[in-house]
Amino acid sequence: MLSRAGHTTLSAVSWRRVGSTAFRAALALAGALAGAEPEVRAAAPAARAPADIWSTACAACHGADGAGMPTAVLGFDVPVPDLRDCLFATSEPTADWFAVVHEGGTVRGLDRMMPAFGTALTAQEIEGVVGYLRGFCRDLPDWPLGDLNLPRGLFTEKAFPENELVLTSNIALRGSGSVMSELVYEKRLGARSMIEVAVPFGFLNLTDSSGAMSGAAGWTGGIGDLGAAFKHAIVQSGRSGTIVALGVDVSVPTGRADRGLGAGVTVVGPFVACGQLLPAGGFVQVHAGADLPTDFDAANPEIFWRALLGWSVTPSRFGRMYSPMIEVLGTRELRADDAAVIWDVAPQIQVTLNRRKHVRLNVGALVPVNRTSGRRAQLGTYLLWDWYEGGPLRGW
Ligand code: HEC
Repeated sequence: MLSRAGHTTLSAVSWRRVGSTAFRAALALAGALAGAEPEVRAAAPAARAPADIWSTACAACHGADGAGMPTAVLGFDVPVPDLRDCLFATSEPTADWFAVVHEGGTVRGLDRMMPAFGTALTAQEIEGVVGYLRGFCRDLPDWPLGDLNLPRGLFTEKAFPENELVLTSNIALRGSGSVMSELVYEKRLGARSMIEVAVPFGFLNLTDSSGAMSGAAGWTGGIGDLGAAFKHAIVQSGRSGTIVALGVDVSVPTGRADRGLGAGVTVVGPFVACGQLLPAGGFVQVHAGADLPTDFDAANPEIFWRALLGWSVTPSRFGRMYSPMIEVLGTRELRADDAAVIWDVAPQIQVTLNRRKHVRLNVGALVPVNRTSGRRAQLGTYLLWDWYEGGPLRGW
């Protein structure tokens, strides 16, 4: 499997190499296709078949079977990805691969040896050939497409299995103050599964807002309850834009409960997570489940549900993507004397930071809707790195 992390930098490829046979041939073909365009259009508006486009314009570098031609044949030392690798062939949203074929590799901070075909091919033809190359993955129907990988909310778990490292922080500026963070490592297993390890840590002021001390005084900090999770997408359809996953997470009481850094008991949380694409860049996500302590005397079980509505926009055609979102969060403690539903809302915006869109920032707020005494608004944020797409400093 070829990971993007192994790719060479732009500077490693000298422009002298542009004279390589494969590249010249591809450009000549691209030129021929471009030249033929008005004529073809005049004669028949029908798009050229994806398989023909592939063999004339792409196969010289990518190979007829998508495996990628060897460096010796190509005459340049940038590795060409193996498109038969299903993970590689499916991870990207169609729009991002459209951009690469239209504008060339540099649009995603990839190598310029991936040429631009925006003038040689029509939009319809580019869509056709992108669909065609996904087919080099033999088990394509089993693999959810990157199009179903919706922007991550601050609190709502996604259904799409990912390869990510995410640092989230919730910061209470008012009241006595706290910064609760979590570093989450997610790794995809096969077509539809994912495992996750979460390391929470935080700093909080134990002096409550009234000025009274609760045992220990002043600021304290430390690690919270370590967590692990597994999820599996049971339903996915590119056609209807739907993905549904079932999962379970477990946290163990490594954090000090007396200092507000842990639950004091092992908690098992089964959940369901769904994502649905809407027209015009919109999407909804729903996440519901329970948090079940292994000892009901130590803590009350809880049920929760979270719904997210969002919309992705790219103001300059192939540029930065902005995704404003709003989450509505409900939690209810079971077995508590007062089993009221606690409601919060979380308005936020996710922004892609680099051209490859694999480093993203989300900034928002968690705002209590009811039971507001003692519950104050917090700042919520995360920084996300999709590590499968290459090192965090690549693709800017
Ligand atoms: C001159 C050689 C060459 C030709 C011709 C070529 N490619 Fe590429 N392509 C590359 C290289 C090199 C990369 C890897 C770039 C990198 O990883 O930095 C690449 C990468 C890609 C990728 C992966 C982009 C990503 O996000 O990782 C896609 C998709 C792709 N090419 C599609 C096509 C299609 C479709 C055609 C034909 C219309 C084509 N290529 C023609 C060299 C070529």
